[in-house]
Amino acid sequence: MSVSDYLTHLFSYEDQIVIVIGGTGVLGGALCDGFGKAGGHVVVAGRSEERGLERVKAIQDAGGSAEFITVDVFQRESIQQLRDQVLEKHGKVDVLVNCAGMNAAIPYEEITDEDWDWIMDGNLRSTQIGCQLFAMHMKTQNGGGCILNIGSVPSHLPLSKVFAYSASKAAVVNLTKNVAREYGTQGVRVNAICPGFFPAEQNRKILAPERIEKIMSQTPMDRFGEPQELIGAALLLCSRNAGSFITGADYYVDGGFTANRF
Ligand SMILES: NC(=O)c1ccc[n+]([C@@H]2O[C@H](COP(=O)([O-])OP(=O)(O)OC[C@H]3O[C@@H](n4cnc5c(N)ncnc54)[C@H](O)[C@@H]3O)[C@@H](O)[C@H]2O)c1
Repeated sequence: MSVSDYLTHLFSYEDQIVIVIGGTGVLGGALCDGFGKAGGHVVVAGRSEERGLERVKAIQDAGGSAEFITVDVFQRESIQQLRDQVLEKHGKVDVLVNCAGMNAAIPYEEITDEDWDWIMDGNLRSTQIGCQLFAMHMKTQNGGGCILNIGSVPSHLPLSKVFAYSASKAAVVNLTKNVAREYGTQGVRVNAICPGFFPAEQNRKILAPERIEKIMSQTPMDRFGEPQELIGAALLLCSRNAGSFITGADYYVDGGFTANRF
């Protein structure tokens, strides 16, 4: 077997259907590009049709295959419609990436119940609904499936100023491991990537200069991540062959931030 045949065997997503919820965002968009270049048909799912169609075009321009479907992660019916629409058209879903997310820095004593619910629902409840609706289908299909959730640095250690976000991302990793355990013998693998710091829409307001300085002082690689630096980990964790025995993992892509603090 040649080197390229071997790597294709390990990492190719040809003939696979990959849904990225939040594929309209910065990190989700990079993951869409990666799955597309690896041969998958990418369903870019999100709220903004304009951004979704831009991403579809970028994937197609790079020689890949993609489509856009609208989804609102606050609505269970919307996630269910996404699943059913993809199943009706393609007959299966090989990979689901739960990559929508929200964040806000609010002083602890000023957090309202609405603030709390918005972040917990957007990050945790949406991930739970995605896992539940897709795992229950994936276990019934030939070849099973794989779910990738998005944790964060505070999945293990709380981050100052972002209380609800920290709690939600800790719970996302806990849920990931529990769902992985639940479906361990049923052909559905469930993992999480925990990115370090990547400038994006949802954290732009939070990354004030003094906070950036503090983050860099605790990041051994002394820089932010680039969105495309998440792709390798995602392709590994979701791969049928390279990732076949990986489930319940929380995989940090953070320039050493968590290693430094442990
Ligand atoms: N950027 C980072 O440094 C970082 C670090 C760790 C984890 N994360 C996580 O990565 C994920 C992606 O975030 P990002 O940094 O790319 O931010 P982003 O703001 O660029 O992307 C978030 C995406 O979620 C989508 N979204 C928001 N509300 C939605 C809704 N109701 N329905 C459907 N989609 C909705 C947005 O439209 C956007 O496409 C999030 O879960 C975030 O918490 C980001």
